Amino acid sequence: MNFKPVQILSIGMSIPETVITNDNLTKILDTSDEWISTRTGIKQRHIANGDENSTLFGINAAKDALDKAGISGEEIDAIVVATSNPYNIYPSTGCAIQEAIGAKNAIAFDITVACTGMIYALEIGRSFISTGKYKNVLLVATDTNSKFLDWTDRGSCVLFGDGASSILITEAKDGNDDIIALNVNADGTMGKHITMNLIGDNCPLVEPAKEGCKKITMNGKEVYKFVMHTMPESIMQCLADANMEPKDIDYLVPHQANLRIIEGLQNRLEFSDDKVIVNIDKYGNTSAASVPIALYEGIETGKIKTPSYAILCAFGAGMAWGSAVVRLRENLNKKS
Ligand code: UT7
Repeated sequence: MNFKPVQILSIGMSIPETVITNDNLTKILDTSDEWISTRTGIKQRHIANGDENSTLFGINAAKDALDKAGISGEEIDAIVVATSNPYNIYPSTGCAIQEAIGAKNAIAFDITVACTGMIYALEIGRSFISTGKYKNVLLVATDTNSKFLDWTDRGSCVLFGDGASSILITEAKDGNDDIIALNVNADGTMGKHITMNLIGDNCPLVEPAKEGCKKITMNGKEVYKFVMHTMPESIMQCLADANMEPKDIDYLVPHQANLRIIEGLQNRLEFSDDKVIVNIDKYGNTSAASVPIALYEGIETGKIKTPSYAILCAFGAGMAWGSAVVRLRENLNKKS
């Protein structure tokens, strides 16, 4: 079979306006700006307000990517949405986005891979395009973690923010594949270290309703230890699969979960600061949306120059983790 190559056409994002600073959090938690900043690099996070929700941000991020690429909803063949706290389980967020952007020719569905969702979505989107069956594939990541956090648990709630991002990919006409290598992994034996359940209640004829958890729980130390050995392995494997070395890569665009983790990866790759994209101070951990938001801002602010090569990498609940070596074309996100 002749596999079709992929072009990354555009990146989109959408973030709530409401900002909660570390100092704001001291009103409801025994914490401090000093602790949060030094342990995580986070200074503030954006969170949903009123009726705002992950579907809304997902729609806005999707529209942004379409606009940047100059493509209409009708031209989209598939929508894959990575979300771990959708506003509705069904209709899926994918179907809601399909309606909102008028993508009447697209299939649409959601995947749940927590913070690694966009790397998995890239794997799915790439496979769709490679068969030749789908041409334009819209990948969206959207999470409103703030609605599911335990706001009494200072070890987890200070870390997360809300937001959405999108990546529009298409079949590359010039034969050059922008997804040069992609590495995804999962280890369910580590699942207990980050959880969010939807246990529901049994039929009341069987037993009375119980109080469900429905909150995010996290063993930060275990996650940290796990990530510090699996993430570099994934990146090195991805580079080997791409037949490249760290020196061939211009930028590291990592999941924004903890600045210390990012610095660990930076040291392993021996990258200078100008090659590492960091915006955790502004947004905290926006789950699956985090990597494309960093990529978007890197391009927007001019820190990322194109054409160039970047490593994207993410990890999170599952545990799931992965990385991708991608080509960023000269015209990426620059409307012609
Ligand atoms: O997408 C994946 C998402 N998850 C992650 O990436 C999490 C990875 N892990 C981490 O980022 C870090 O483990 C944390 C930032 C969550 C925690 O940092 P740590 O250096 O591992 O701190 P710790 O959990 O060992 O806690 C140290 C101390 C404890 O106090 P004691 O027992 O030493 O008295 C905590 O109770 O810090 C305390 N603490 C806090 N203090 C002030 C924990 N959270 C806070 C807080 N403010 N928000």
